[in-house]
Amino acid sequence: MIRYAPGMAKSRPRKPVPLPEARWPSAAEAEAARLYQPIQIGPLEVRERTWVPAMVPWRATGDGVVTPENLDWYGRFAAGRPGVLVAEATGIRDIESGPLLRISHDRFLPGLTELVARVRRESEGATRFFIQIIDFLTVRRRPEPARYFERYLQVSERHRDALAGHTGDDAWRDADEAALRTGLLEAGADAWPALLDARELQSLQYGYREAVNDLHLPHIRELPQVLPGLFADAADRARRAGFDGVELHFAHAYTMASFLSRTNMRDDGYGGSREGRARLALEVIDAVRKRVGDDYVVGTRFLGDEVIDGGSRIEDACDYAVRFADAGLDFLSVSKGGKFDDAKQPRIGHAVYPYTGPSGHECMPTTRIDEAGPFGRNLPLSAAIRRAVRDAGHETPVIGAGGICTFEMAEQALANGDCDLVAAARQSLADPDWFWKMRLGRGDEVVRCTYTNYCEGLDQQHKQVTCKLWDKLFDRKDPPPGLPLSPDGLRRLLPPSWQP
Ligand SMILES: Cc1cc2nc3c(=O)[nH]c(=O)nc-3n(C[C@H](O)[C@H](O)[C@H](O)COP(=O)(O)O)c2cc1C
Ligand code: SF4
Repeated sequence: MIRYAPGMAKSRPRKPVPLPEARWPSAAEAEAARLYQPIQIGPLEVRERTWVPAMVPWRATGDGVVTPENLDWYGRFAAGRPGVLVAEATGIRDIESGPLLRISHDRFLPGLTELVARVRRESEGATRFFIQIIDFLTVRRRPEPARYFERYLQVSERHRDALAGHTGDDAWRDADEAALRTGLLEAGADAWPALLDARELQSLQYGYREAVNDLHLPHIRELPQVLPGLFADAADRARRAGFDGVELHFAHAYTMASFLSRTNMRDDGYGGSREGRARLALEVIDAVRKRVGDDYVVGTRFLGDEVIDGGSRIEDACDYAVRFADAGLDFLSVSKGGKFDDAKQPRIGHAVYPYTGPSGHECMPTTRIDEAGPFGRNLPLSAAIRRAVRDAGHETPVIGAGGICTFEMAEQALANGDCDLVAAARQSLADPDWFWKMRLGRGDEVVRCTYTNYCEGLDQQHKQVTCKLWDKLFDRKDPPPGLPLSPDGLRRLLPPSWQP
């Protein structure tokens, strides 16, 4: 059952909230604007306060290697010359993870080095290129019930007792294992909640998913011993590939965010209290810093609010932010929600997707989220975090994101002290040149995102991410020669180019 949590949408309006009116600046106004002033991020000067946050495009090889499509994708964002561009969540473990980038071995270095070179070239050196590095735990597809009971459920005396109690037939206590499995299956969906424990039921209904609380699993117990080294190795590779910095992925549904979560009940010193929950993150930061040195940008993306029952709130986030700043992180990028805990049940054969429930909707809010809409929705979180960090005596830049799509919103956020750099994911996907167009006084040429999440739907299906607006710009029956298209020929893989 999902209960209301602070900061969570209460209801979805039937009608979408309209896009805010946009008043675009002249070139002179933009030149004087906060948005286009340089800023220092640790040892690095960034030319302007515009930021394209991580977005997975599903374009790597199945082995996680950079492809020509990755080069085109990041090259295209770089051509819009944002102050900072962050490469997608890139895996630090040398395991199968589909067409998402990996940085888990030196064999990935040639591709990543080429990627950095492409971004430098396309942005003419104007864009700083960071890479988000991530660890995630196993998530399996939702199984057929028959398969689950036959193959996956670890049967025990508890199941015998439960089935005997449920049917009133004591013979189940002595049944052989195969008969017991069949009996549990045939008891039917209405009985399963009484026959299985909560985790078993979750595995049946949503697919098996590992959690940081699974201390009975040796590899989960050992995460605190393993992860600092893996993150440090990955950060070192990022530096060797030429990235300007690394963003430690401590947000959303993944391992490090689960350690920071109030739902982390580990009793091994890495859970429970706030201090315990922050401990692994601080050990990761320390290991990374020791490996890459003080003259390299290391920051994090983490959650201002998990937006789940019993999850971490803004008070936790402010506390973590101060600890991270104390530990010497160079930037703090704030996101919200995106958890497995409240995700929708996937169809059989599909994996649960952490952006389908209320917390997921807060992470990538649409115009139907509620009457307030998605626009600047998550800025109160970055504002509170920034205040806490400043009160603790740190100047660490804070990055705000979430529905930011006009010059005035961006400028106001900076003027209000809500953040120090303004991130826009979907608006930059809709139009990778939008920051540059505004800077040149040509805002009336900006293609505006509609915040209806067609792109996110593609991400959910693990399809190459594109924007629906790009497709309006070509004739499907007669596509221009050389235009890269999705395998079905219906979607263009890149937005049109733009030259001032
Ligand atoms: C297709 C897609 C992929 C995304 N991939 C990532 C990711 O790899 N890492 C991450 O931290 N956030 C990811 N996000 C979330 C965005 O970075 C951003 O936080 C979110 O979309 C809200 O910002 P916006 O309203 O400007 O789009 C993704 C978003 C989209 C739409
Ligand atoms: S697909 Fe929709 S939500 Fe995604 S970037 Fe394009 S217009 Fe925006």
